[in-house]
Parts: sequence; C-alpha cells; structure tokens
Amino acid sequence: MARVKKISVLVCGGAGYIGSHVVRHLVGAGYDVTVFDNFSLGHPEAIPEDVDCVQGSVMEAGVLDRMFSNGNFDAVFHLCAFTMVGESVRDPLRYYENNVGGGVQLLKAMATHGVKRMVFSSTAAVYGQPEKTPIDESCAVAPINPYGFSKLCFERILSDCDTAWGLKWVALRYFNAAGADATSTIGEDHTPETHLIPLTLFRALPSEVRPADAHGPLQVFGNDYPTPDGTCVRDYVHVTDLADAHQKALAYLAGGGNSIAVNLGNGSGFSVLEVIRSCEEITGQKIPFEVTARRPGDPATLVASAERASQALQWKTSHSSLENIVATAWRWHQAHPSGFRVK
Ligand code: UFG
Repeated sequence: MARVKKISVLVCGGAGYIGSHVVRHLVGAGYDVTVFDNFSLGHPEAIPEDVDCVQGSVMEAGVLDRMFSNGNFDAVFHLCAFTMVGESVRDPLRYYENNVGGGVQLLKAMATHGVKRMVFSSTAAVYGQPEKTPIDESCAVAPINPYGFSKLCFERILSDCDTAWGLKWVALRYFNAAGADATSTIGEDHTPETHLIPLTLFRALPSEVRPADAHGPLQVFGNDYPTPDGTCVRDYVHVTDLADAHQKALAYLAGGGNSIAVNLGNGSGFSVLEVIRSCEEITGQKIPFEVTARRPGDPATLVASAERASQALQWKTSHSSLENIVATAWRWHQAHPSGFRVK
C-alpha cells in the first residue's frame, strides 16, 4: 500500500504557551511537526520528546536558511514574538526588531525556499481602544502600544508578500488566551507573569509552593470603568480552542482560501471580579485582592465577534467556558507551581 505523505509544518515559537498547545494539537492530528524556538521565553520541557526541534532565533538568517534547506515544509506557524504591552512601551525597538524584523527574516527564508502558507499569531491589541463591542474584523485597527503596532505592521507585510509572491496567510487575532491542556503537562509559565488568571490562581496555592511575588493580595487594576461592576471585561478563550483554530486555518489555506485576518474569541466577556469569583469557586479558597489604580492602556471592554472564524474556518469554541478555563489552569498550576522549573 502506498504511504501517504504527512503534511510537514514548522512551528516557530513552538515551546511557548500557545505554541506548545498548537504543537500537541498538530501532532495529535497526524502532522509532521518541527519546532523552531530559541527558548528565550519558551520551555524545552514543553516540546514532546519525539518532535524534531531546531534551536535558534528568527533573527538568524543563516540558521533559518539551513533549517528550510533541510526541511520540506508545507506551511509555517509563526508564534514567536515578544508579547508584553508595558515592556513594548518601554523598549519599542526591541519589539519592532523581533516582531517585525525577525518576522521579515522568516518570510525571506520562506520566499527563498518556496513555502507559501503562513498562519500568524496576531492579537486583539491591533484594535486599540475599540470603536464597538463585540469587535469584528471590519472595526478600525488602531493599536495604542508598540506591541499591537508590531503585530499590525506584520499583518501588512504579509499582505504585501501575498501581492508580490503569492504568500497565503491567516492572521489569528487572539483575545485573552487562558487555560491549559487537559493533561496538565503543559500550561502558562511566563516570567514575569502578568496575566490575570495565573496571578489569581497563584494566591490559592499553598504558601510553601506559591511564587515569591504572589504572597500579597492580587491587585485589581481599577474599578471605575464603564462596565457592570466597574472592572475591565475581557474575552477569555481556551488555549486548546486556539490550537484547534491553527489547524483549521491551515486547512482553510490548503483548500485554496484567500488571505484573511480573523478574531479568535469566545464572544462573551467576563469582568476581573467575575474571574476572581470563578477562581474562588474552583479552588475553594478565598482570593485576597485590593483595588488599585488603572493599568495604563487597558481598554474597558474587549469582546470578540468570532463570526468570521466560524464562517471561514468552521471554528467554534468547545473548551472555553470560564469554569473549564479556570479548572484546567488550576490543575496545571497545582501540578507545576513553579511552572516548568523544578523548585
Ligand atoms: N488585571 C488585573 N490585575 C492583574 C492582572 C490583570 O486587574 O494583576 C486585569 C487587567 O487590567 C485586565 C484583565 O485583568 O483588565 C486582563 O489582563 P491580562 O493582563 O490577563 O490580559 P490583557 O487583556 O491585558 O492582555 C491580553 C493579552 C495581550 C494582548 C491583549 C489584547 O495578554 O497580549 O490581551 O488587548 F495584547
């Protein structure tokens, strides 16, 4: 019987939080996966042992060229980026260098080696302060920080490459990625951690294993927003659903789909206080918190319309109830209170 060639894909940033979930998903679906990561933010432990891995940075043209010469990739998933909004404001050039310059190196290698499909990790931050809720893809893009601008800039570069050499791409504009794989073997592990759900759950861990900076009360950044309880509302979407969207985006391109940007969200929003309450219910612990000043740059409400993702990619969420997001994240943090590091 003739052997069917597996689809071969390169996952850049495959050792990161979202990337590692994408890798698991693609391996499970039978793809031949190679991970490319420099481990500056990602974790080698997050990559399955039987997956090929090339260590390097998107800034290194020579490394990229060798990797593309050795591989025969049908598509590239591009998830390597710096993602911290505040840091991008303090050090914009680092963000443009890596998120734009590094991405350009990757595209040059793809062009040279004739790889013409990319699924790109974009962000809701391209919308800045959104003009309406829920946000659909026809809303104006107007980032308010260098992080969001670097992602928008790269979307534009993708579009220009489509015109110039026929690159087909899907930009996935993630809303608030959260939760962890059902196996609890991979999950969120950022240094420093800035995201609401892990920071809340850290407070419920036994004090002897709790991260050193999570012993005080959680800070709730502002309760005077124009929202039902005054705290910011976000659209939390389970990382396993995001991973599934990556596979569907590639299937869409393989089926001849045109280049598009799509929102990936749950379509419903939860306030900071609702998230804290959900964490209290799941963990059975009271979470101490204090209301502090607003965090600069936080829009009051960010909720996606995921209609285009549903129509174009046939994507819908199935893991993204707030309860499941918090429960899977909680199991991960309980099993790995120090993340991938062994304490
Ligand atoms: N928050 C707190 N206290 C904390 C941490 C967060 O009150 O200690 C609040 C924030 O002010 C915000 C909400 O919880 O209202 C969610 O904050 P996160 O930091 O978890 O997530 P963001 O909405 O700020 O950021 C996410 C992605 C970014 C992306 C952005 C798009 O992590 O990469 O959505 O707007 F840019």
